[in-house]
Amino acid sequence: MLFGRPRSQPRASRSGSLGGMDYPDPKRKGSFVGKVFLAVALTALCIFMIKQSPSMNSPSPFSFHEPGVTHVLVTGGAGYIGSHAALRLLKESYRVTIVDNLSRGNLGAIRVLQELFPEPGRLQFIYADLGDKKSVEKIFSENKFDAVMHFAAVAYVGESTADPLKYYHNITSNTLLVLESMAKHGVTTLIYSSTCATYGEPEKMPITEETPQFPINPYGKAKKMAEDIILDFSKTSDMAVMILRYFNVIGSDPEGRLGEAPRPELREQGRISGACFDAARGIIPGLKVRGTDYKTPDGTCIRDYIDVTDLVDAHVKALEKAQSGKVGIYNVGTGRGRSVNEFVEACKKATGVDIKVEYLSRRPGDYAEVYSDPSKILRELNWSAQYTNLQESLEVAWRWQKAHRDGYGTSTAVL
Ligand SMILES: NC(=O)c1ccc[n+]([C@@H]2O[C@H](COP(=O)([O-])OP(=O)(O)OC[C@H]3O[C@@H](n4cnc5c(N)ncnc54)[C@H](O)[C@@H]3O)[C@@H](O)[C@H]2O)c1
Repeated sequence: MLFGRPRSQPRASRSGSLGGMDYPDPKRKGSFVGKVFLAVALTALCIFMIKQSPSMNSPSPFSFHEPGVTHVLVTGGAGYIGSHAALRLLKESYRVTIVDNLSRGNLGAIRVLQELFPEPGRLQFIYADLGDKKSVEKIFSENKFDAVMHFAAVAYVGESTADPLKYYHNITSNTLLVLESMAKHGVTTLIYSSTCATYGEPEKMPITEETPQFPINPYGKAKKMAEDIILDFSKTSDMAVMILRYFNVIGSDPEGRLGEAPRPELREQGRISGACFDAARGIIPGLKVRGTDYKTPDGTCIRDYIDVTDLVDAHVKALEKAQSGKVGIYNVGTGRGRSVNEFVEACKKATGVDIKVEYLSRRPGDYAEVYSDPSKILRELNWSAQYTNLQESLEVAWRWQKAHRDGYGTSTAVL
């Protein structure tokens, strides 16, 4: 190897060889020793600086189990329910890792959480797709989770009938990947977000956890398949599993920090509360009530609306009470059904806007009447819904909506 000599010099002097004889070039030797010395000094400096760097001195707090700290992976934590759950967990001193691909969620929700809990080791956000096996493996090998709350999913009944494969992939197949990684990396607790859509349209109301599950749309079927995978796996595993079947989730953080902000392009698919607020704000001309000929007292569908604050409380209770080798399955609802017409009236009162209502024919995949029997969760987890005033839940959510006209995009107002 040659150091520091111009290329134009004769070959002999460059190579240190003259007339076929090798001899040491004293200048070259001095230069070589100097370079080696410099390289050693630089290497030593690098090692010193790396050792001084805090991130190298101490491994990431997310990468090891810390006694007394429960580290929860919240998948879908940039979404509506996941972000509220993350907020509650952080308030309760859990360590939280959020994984989300932001396909439906909002970075703004993550930012709110990061601003509320900036201390090291409280919250980390990993942007990743749970359908990507390599990413999922990397996440589980680089972090030590005590529990997983698996919220991430596409979750619109209408969309699932139009694009069923997307639903089986995103819900069923991704849950399998998450479960495999949990098993491989010894994560001991799973709280799974399931849905009353797994019951389909049962003959008998209210729905108990024993009600047979005959889902009637791909969304419900994909969730039921994911449940089945989890249940079969549990038979041969020590994992503590809680499956929570939510009814219709409404409301938002009573302190106004988080809200529900579906992507504008998903408005058409959206849920009734989003549509109600969009109508009240004049973003859409009015509400479309789909189906007035159901066998219900006023002909519109009946649903059980559960406030998100109650729902995340059920998650925390489920996490606390999850037992190794056992599976708990619980309905999370109020136990009371409200018709779409009742909902619309509550929405008009909550927003103070006389929303225009258009009545249309039924939407494919919808069912007439769904409400829960929540007595099992009361008995076993000591949980019951507290925020059961529909109008009040909508008022709270409406305050956030008014203050965040572009969702998390340009939040300006202070409540
Ligand atoms: N909202 C309801 O009324 C309701 C009712 C019953 C059950 N659920 C269930 O609750 C969970 C959360 O629902 P939500 O209303 O908060 O929905 P949401 O769309 O607001 O949140 C879902 C989140 O998951 C993320 N996500 C989706 N696919 C992903 C992937 N492949 N990788 C990483 N992240 C991904 C999205 O970006 C989003 O942030 C879902 O599992 C849903 O099926 C919701």
